[in-house]
Formats: sequence, structure tokens, C-alpha cells
Amino acid sequence: MEVFKRTAQLNTGAQIPLIGLGTVAADQNEEDITVAVITALQVGYRHFDTASMYKSERPLGKALNTAFQNGLVKREDLFVTTKLWNTEHDDPVTAIKSSLKNLQLDYVDLYLIHWPIKLRKEAPMSASKPKEEDFLPLDMKSTWQGMEQCLEMGFTKAVGVSNFSSKKIEDLLTHAKIPPAVDQVEMHPQWQQKKLRDYCNKHNIHVSAWGPLGGHNKGWGSNEVMDNPLMHEIAQKHGKTRAQVMLRWGLEQGASVLPKSYNTDRIFSNFQIFDWSLTPDDHDKIDMLKQVKLFRGDAFVNSTTGPYKTVEELWDGEI
Ligand SMILES: NC(=O)c1ccc[n+]([C@@H]2O[C@H](COP(=O)([O-])OP(=O)(O)OC[C@H]3O[C@@H](n4cnc5c(N)ncnc54)[C@H](OP(=O)(O)O)[C@@H]3O)[C@@H](O)[C@H]2O)c1
Repeated sequence: MEVFKRTAQLNTGAQIPLIGLGTVAADQNEEDITVAVITALQVGYRHFDTASMYKSERPLGKALNTAFQNGLVKREDLFVTTKLWNTEHDDPVTAIKSSLKNLQLDYVDLYLIHWPIKLRKEAPMSASKPKEEDFLPLDMKSTWQGMEQCLEMGFTKAVGVSNFSSKKIEDLLTHAKIPPAVDQVEMHPQWQQKKLRDYCNKHNIHVSAWGPLGGHNKGWGSNEVMDNPLMHEIAQKHGKTRAQVMLRWGLEQGASVLPKSYNTDRIFSNFQIFDWSLTPDDHDKIDMLKQVKLFRGDAFVNSTTGPYKTVEELWDGEI
């Protein structure tokens, strides 16, 4: 059987490992993250996804630093992504420097604009609903120039976006000196992002799937994605777990997948997705699944001060 490639090439020429460990949890415990990262490195993960908002940069950095010192892995073999939070749009260079300090790194491999939302810098750094007075008009041109500066100063090897619709990328491309390398978006068998992926393919922008397990047991997500009878059926047929089916599906769509787990067995099993494949029939059936966007972003919408009065405006109809 043909061995599935474990990396994809970004438009910068760099390779992005197709599976990365997600590091967001409601009740972040630094020790859990540190242990999960060391376990993941031992299993073979070389890609880690964090953000200034997740409170996981510091423990991730601690674990990576320990791994460098013990010779478990070299910096150049890793791919680390972090993100500019909504309160940091005014000054991406200062924001990335703070992230790098937390991560104990000289550079990240990918720096993303977390959301197409700008909030006052004094607003709380959290995913909860911002107050009306905290919203600021979006100035994507200036934010993107700041991202480009981060790249030019060597603080990141690539820049990209997250939670951007095709239309928002199209607008960005009209003024970007450096095009985004990645759009990181919610993607799983019940939110397949076909339109966005078509658009990104045409423009050589890689898509990374956040919530590839449908946010199983998480506040924003739904167990219905993994519990769908079709996931049971396909998993049983291949002798795999439902999570492996969902992750393998993501890979076979050309995306990278970012499952979060702090559990040793699940960190291991989620990684076992390279030496088997889904059949065309599996794909046909998954294609037919009803599509439901789980994270609609209602918190980022308000009818008075925000740039988006409705979720349809936030996603430019891609919802
Ligand atoms: N750019 C963005 O706006 C954005 C938004 C959300 C997330 N993200 C990134 O994407 C990553 C993944 O998203 P997510 O964490 O929200 O959701 P997810 O990866 O779809 O699901 C994670 C949940 O599934 C559980 N899980 C993991 N492996 C499993 C398995 N094999 N069987 C059953 N349950 C399993 C995890 O619990 P255990 O830990 O107990 O295994 C956790 O509760 C995040 O961690 C973050 O890095 C980005």
C-alpha cells in the first residue's frame, strides 16, 4: 500500500506536518499539557497548535524546551503554530514577541490571525462574548501589514488566517504583499468546508482543520459527529476507532488535522492514521452527511458596535 505523505507543502515552500496536537481546553491544567506534549513527541507528533488566548503557550514551551534539552527532538524538526488574539490586532509584532517568550522559542513556524475581529486591547483575553464597547472597526490592511512585519523580522516562518471565509481571504489578497499560507477553520465530516477548500486550493492556501473530532465532549462541540451511526459503521469495517476515521477523512481531503487530546491512549491512537485508507464508498457516504456548523461564532456578532450584525455576515454566508 502506498504510504500517505505525512506533510504538505505550504506556499512558502515549508512542510506542514498533517497531524498536529491541539492544545485548547476549558480547564487548562499546565501539568496535563506538559505531559501530553512529551507523550505526543514520543508518539511522533511534530506539529503543535496553540494561541495567545489558550493559556497553553507557556506549558507547551516548557515541554518543548525539556524535549530539546533531553535530545528528544530538534527545533528544526518541529512545526509550532500560534495566533494573534482579537485584542492584539494593533501590534502583531509585540504580540508575537510575547508569544515567543511564553513558548521559549526564537520563532514560530506559523502565525495566524485568530479571528477577523478586532477588540480593544484592554478587553479580556477570552473566548466569551465581548462587551459592545470592546468592539473596534476591523482594519485588516494594517493588521496584515503587522503580520507581514512579523515574518520579515524572522519571528515566524509563515503567516496565515483562521476563521476566514473565502470572501475575507479574497479581500485580504487584494492588499496582501505576502499571501496567507494557511486558513485554519472548523472542519470535520459534518462541516466539510467544500466551498472554502475549493477556493483555498485554487489560491494555494493550505486548510488546517480545527475541531476535527467535532469538539467531542467540549462546550462548543457536539458528540453527535463522532456518535453518528456512519462513523460507527466505517470504523467497524476497517477495525479503527471513530476518531481515526474522522482524522483520516480530513487527511484524505488534503487538510492537516489538529485533534486535541491530553489522554495518553488517545494521543497515540489518533496518530495511527497513515497506513490505511478509506474507500471511495466511505467517501460517498460521508459526502452525504447533513452539514451543521457547530461553532457559529454568535459571541462575535452584535448589532450595534461590531463589524458583523449577524452570523451570516461573519461567515459571508458560508454557514
Ligand atoms: N482557530 C480556532 O479558532 C480554533 C478553535 C478551536 C480549536 N482550535 C484548535 O484545534 C484543536 C482541536 O479542536 P478542539 O480541541 O476544540 O476539538 P477536537 O479536537 O475536535 O476534540 C477534542 C475533544 O475530543 C476528545 N478526544 C480526543 N481524541 C479522542 C478520541 N480518540 N476518542 C474520543 N474522544 C477524543 C478530547 O478529549 P481528551 O483530551 O480527554 O482526549 C476533547 O474533549 C484545539 O485544541 C486548538 O488547538 C482552533
